[in-house]
This record gives sequence, structure tokens and C-alpha cells, in this order.
Amino acid sequence: MHRLTNEDRAAIKKVLDINGYDPDTFDPEVLNELEKNEEYKELIRIHASDILVSEHFNSLKNYIQHGNVTVYEHCLHVALCAIKLGRGLGVKCKERELVRGALLHDYFLYDWHNADAPGNTHPKLHGFYHPGIALRNATRDFTLTEREKDIIRKHMWPLTVNPPRCREAWVVCLADKYSSTLETLKLRKGKIRVNYA
Ligand SMILES: [Fe+2]
Ligand SMILES: [Fe+2]
Repeated sequence: MHRLTNEDRAAIKKVLDINGYDPDTFDPEVLNELEKNEEYKELIRIHASDILVSEHFNSLKNYIQHGNVTVYEHCLHVALCAIKLGRGLGVKCKERELVRGALLHDYFLYDWHNADAPGNTHPKLHGFYHPGIALRNATRDFTLTEREKDIIRKHMWPLTVNPPRCREAWVVCLADKYSSTLETLKLRKGKIRVNYA
């Protein structure tokens, strides 16, 4: 049985305390700023150069997450947001595992909009099934720590019932929702040109 330390409990409270969030932080400009943050980008390069150069990870550029944001861009956004949130909230995280888990959290490697796409085994239930598929692919292609596995497996919580077991997974779970919200806002405000073709 996994026992939470007081520090874990405090971290979860910080991550889940939506009253603590300033509405101004939900501005799509945050994504542009994160994309330009050289310190965070360097951190990702240091911790995940093997992932960044891998052929399969780069194939995420071929899949659309939403609008014209690719899964590749989304995963980078989530990694950048996870670093920002972890540091901003003062949640002590193992940043290497935080970054690697965030990059691989949507490593499901199929076009989830296309029900006939190879690998899309549960097109109507993509939300439920893709964390497990991403974990299977990531375990095949990389050597993962238990924290990294938990990040990938639990990132859709509360949709997938079992909650994260480590702080890093809580932070990525939030960073994923935060990034998706910012990406959607950016699309709505016309700051990303949507390609409907
Ligand atoms: Fe996901
Ligand atoms: Fe995601």
C-alpha cells in the first residue's frame, strides 16, 4: 500500500487548489512565453535528448492533437508547463522524470481522429485507453522508471479512476489539462491558424 508523506499531501493540495489560480495565467501568451524559455528548453534537452532524437517520438509531428496543434507540440507544451507548475507551486519534483514522463504521456502513436487508423483500437474510448497504449509503446522504446510509468498511466485522472501515486504524476496531470486549455484558447483567439483541410 502506497503511503503519502505530509509533503506529498501538501503537494497534492497545492496542485488541486483551483482557488489559488489567477485567471490571468489562462492566457495563451503563456504558451508563447514557455516556448521561448531557454532555461526550460535546455532542461528538456539535458534530460531527454534520447527521446527528442528518436524516430518514433518525432513521428508525433504527423499526428494532430487538436486544431493544428500536433501531438509533438502538445507533449513539449506539457513538459514546459510541468516544469513551470512544479517550480511555481513549490512542489519538489524529480525534474528528469517529470520531463521524460511529460514528453511521453501521449505516446500512443496513432491518429485518434481516424477510427480506422492502425493502433486506434478503441476509437470511441480514446480518452480511457490511450494512457495504457502510450505506456506500452514507451516501455517498448525506452527504459522507464516507476515514476515515469505512473505519470503516463495516470495523466487522464480523474477519467481513469486510479489517482497518481507520485507528485510528478500529479503535476503532469494538471500540466496536461492546463496546456490543453491554453492550446484551445489560443485556437479560439485565432492565435494559431486552424487548418481544417
Ligand atoms: Fe492524453
Ligand atoms: Fe495530453
